[in-house]
Amino acid sequence: MPVTTPAAREAAPPSVPSAGALPQDFAALVRQDPEISGILLAEAGRQASTLQLIAAENFTSPAVLAALGSPLANKYAEGYPGARHHGGCEQADAAERAAVRRAMSLFGAEHANVQPHSGSSAVLAAYAALLRPGDTVLAMGLPYGGHLTHGAPGNFSGRWFEFAGYGVDPDSGLIDYAQVRALARARRPKAIVCGSISYPRHPDYEQFRAIADEVGAYLIADAAHPMGLIAGGAAPSPVPYADVVCATTHKVLRGPRGGMILCGVELSERIDRAVFPFTQGGAQMHTVAAKAVAFGEAATPAFAVYAHRVVAHARVLAAALESEGFEITTGGTDTHIVVVDPAPLGVDARTARERLMAAGMVLDTCALPYGDARGIRLGTAAVTTQGMDEDDMQRIAALFGAAVREEGDAGRLRAEVRGLAEHNPPYPG
Ligand SMILES: Cc1ncc(COP(=O)(O)O)c(C=O)c1O
Repeated sequence: MPVTTPAAREAAPPSVPSAGALPQDFAALVRQDPEISGILLAEAGRQASTLQLIAAENFTSPAVLAALGSPLANKYAEGYPGARHHGGCEQADAAERAAVRRAMSLFGAEHANVQPHSGSSAVLAAYAALLRPGDTVLAMGLPYGGHLTHGAPGNFSGRWFEFAGYGVDPDSGLIDYAQVRALARARRPKAIVCGSISYPRHPDYEQFRAIADEVGAYLIADAAHPMGLIAGGAAPSPVPYADVVCATTHKVLRGPRGGMILCGVELSERIDRAVFPFTQGGAQMHTVAAKAVAFGEAATPAFAVYAHRVVAHARVLAAALESEGFEITTGGTDTHIVVVDPAPLGVDARTARERLMAAGMVLDTCALPYGDARGIRLGTAAVTTQGMDEDDMQRIAALFGAAVREEGDAGRLRAEVRGLAEHNPPYPG
């Protein structure tokens, strides 16, 4: 029998357990913690029995969920692959290298940082890399669809930088590039941000680049919403135009909750240092691994079909809601987002959202490009992942109209919405 010496033991590769030996066992959670497992099961039931029309949400794949629940959740890995502050990072390094390689290839970028904990963390790091406190930044004004990180007074962005907000044309709802240019010339910003939480059209990245160049500003694309459409070839990419592209990985892109940053090689070191150690500590390596899984999925032909379907569904939904009497901002959509003004039906957006919620349709209110009243923002990413088709979009619009008008029997309406959702389970068993 061979004797294993200490040196031989060190050199031996670690044994790799089979997948069945991994500890993701929901039954164990049910046995150990009925309160939390009960909450998680109730949430799964809520997601499966109502329609998820929040434009920022989606259903990740079982493979992404498996990576999120994997033992990499235990690993500390401050720093970057090959330069960590902790030992035992071989697999963490491999996961992050795979995520970075896949992100660069998917989006045609020279550099990717996949560590930001969220979309907001990605924007914070982009600002930290390029700006100094007090610098002027041009971004879409919050009343028109800018994100909190685009200068909200209660956010770090509004506290530490001087934001000037551009708007949209009140009639067309489209970005007024003449106004952006005039504001840029007047305010001479250090950076211009393009990106929004509710703009249903593609930003004209070339125009933004030209304006930024004219005033010597950096161009930051906050592509949190369209990143999945870009991955699937269903939306133009800001990568060739922007100095830095920030995004979330959990919207149309269908990955885990998290953020990412893309940039060219010349800014790569500044971006990396702005993420770690400037704004974050140890990356969440299980999430990084899940991002790699999602990038792998997004590179498949099936994902391109999905991304185009998301846009086609949003267009069908917008047209059908218009037929129901709603006003559709910008007259339609090029993306997964539809913004609806319920005013023609004599209902305000908050009341409409409550009525829709009671019927099992989950969505948000948002700013409208005109006046002070709010609109309703819908998205088609989640329902498309569930496998719904264009007929289902027509059905959703009819149910939406009936719910807002409080037409018919409320119990029957809720039952119809439940039937539609349960006919298309997000995680078929
Ligand atoms: C344009 C934009 N930027 C940033 C974010 C922030 O993402 P997170 O909620 O992950 O911080 C969002 C999220 O909705 C967004 O839409």
